[in-house]
This record gives sequence, C-alpha cells and structure tokens, in this order.
Amino acid sequence: MIETAQAFGIDIGGSGIKAAPVDLERGDFAVPRLKVHTPERSTPKALAKIVRQAVERFEVPEGAPIGIAFPAPVRPGRPLDFMANLDKSWIGLDVTEVFSRACGRPVTVVNDADAAGLAEQRYGAAKGQGGLVVATTLGTGIGTALIYDGVLIPNTELGHIELAKGKGEAEKYAASSVRDKKSLGYRKWAKRLTKYYGLLEKYLNPDLFVVGGGVSRMSEKFLPYIDVHTPIVPAKLRNQAGIVGAAYYATSKLV
Ligand code: BGC
Repeated sequence: MIETAQAFGIDIGGSGIKAAPVDLERGDFAVPRLKVHTPERSTPKALAKIVRQAVERFEVPEGAPIGIAFPAPVRPGRPLDFMANLDKSWIGLDVTEVFSRACGRPVTVVNDADAAGLAEQRYGAAKGQGGLVVATTLGTGIGTALIYDGVLIPNTELGHIELAKGKGEAEKYAASSVRDKKSLGYRKWAKRLTKYYGLLEKYLNPDLFVVGGGVSRMSEKFLPYIDVHTPIVPAKLRNQAGIVGAAYYATSKLV
C-alpha cells in the first residue's frame, strides 16, 4: 500500500481525526484521507484504538514511518503535563509510548501546530522563507509553531498567552471554535485576531505569519482585516498540513 517516498500521517484534533499515506515528494496525500469524529471522551484508550484502526485500514507496512500530530506539547520519553482540548486523562502519560504500543511498532508523535508549520515551511506558504516564521493554526484551540531559518523550535504554546485588559487566554478569545460558538462575523473575529497577532508581533518580531487550520480556506473573509505590519498569509496546505507535516517529521527522525 505504501511505496518508498511515502510515510503515513495522522492528525488528531479536537473535533476530527484524519489520516492518509503522504507522498513526501509532493507534500500531498498519496490516496484520499480517512476522517472520523473525535469521540466525546477523547481518552488514551479511545484514541489509541482509532489510530490502530487507521494504520490497519491503510495496511501500512512494517517499517514505514508513521507520524502523529497531537494537540499538546509532546516530549518523547516524558509524561505529558498539559492538555487543553482532549480528555485530561492524557496527563501523566508518554503520548509516544501510548501510540507506539497501540500500533505495535515505534511511531513519532509531534505537536500538531509544529507539524503544520513544518509542512508549510517545507512545501507550502513559507517555502524558502528565512528568518522567523510564526505559523499558527486556528481551530478548536490556537496552535503555534516557531521556525527559524528552517529549524523548528518545538512545543511553543502561544495560543495560551494572556491578552490585555482582562480578555483572558488568546485561544478562548480568538480560536475558530470561539467564532463558531459566539456566531461572530468574520470582520468582528478579525478584530480579535488583530489583538492576538499584534501581541505576537510585538514580542517576537517575525518575518512572516502563516495562518492555518480548516478556516484558512475562508482566508479572504478575515485575513485582509487583520491589522498587523508583518506579512500574513494563509496556509497553502490548509488543514492537510497536520497530516503531511507529521509524516514528514517522522521520516526526518529516521536519519
Ligand atoms: C494546545 C496546543 C495545540 C493547539 C492546537 C492548544 O490548546 O495546547 O498544543 O497545538 O491547541 O491544537
């Protein structure tokens, strides 16, 4: 099923879990992806089962790299100490070990926004960009990836920074899920995003912002209204970036 120059990618999100074999030359799915809803109780047991079934369903051969994008800071060999949008029973577990055991082989786990950012740097909107790229994903939460001259600084959690004037945590104020829940129009939402990206700009001075997540396919509705000085562009791989980036990251870990 999987050929050379392919790896298997899985993206675990707050609302959906997506998986596909990835063609690493093109940075695209080799065959159409599989998508299932994230179960209400997104426990380690429930997600491990879905991941195993996806690997079986695509008949991923032994030895083919498997990369999993996960919505929390991931440090292999160390217990997870923070979880915002999946079941809290993940805390204390080594995520890489949980999924490796479920698949019966070693897998590579990477933070979902880091995976997406790497994919954009390698294949998408930040291709060839030097200096500091701040890639963000707007979804259930807000994920961030910092990439400097092509090198990832992993596990930044800048979706949780506090905004000024009692507005609270950025992802609770400006994530795409907040726009849905509060039925905010795109322009109103863009005002909230301006506060967020303005703060990132002030403290990080990036050369480029990349805006990803499923909502990036509607970028013309809100991106022009985000008022910052830094160039800001939509992700090219859109919400494929997590899968592609996880697969790419898994192969880069083999060398
Ligand atoms: C998590 C991050 C994740 C982001 C996007 C945040 O709530 O803390 O680790 O990258 O959501 O899923």
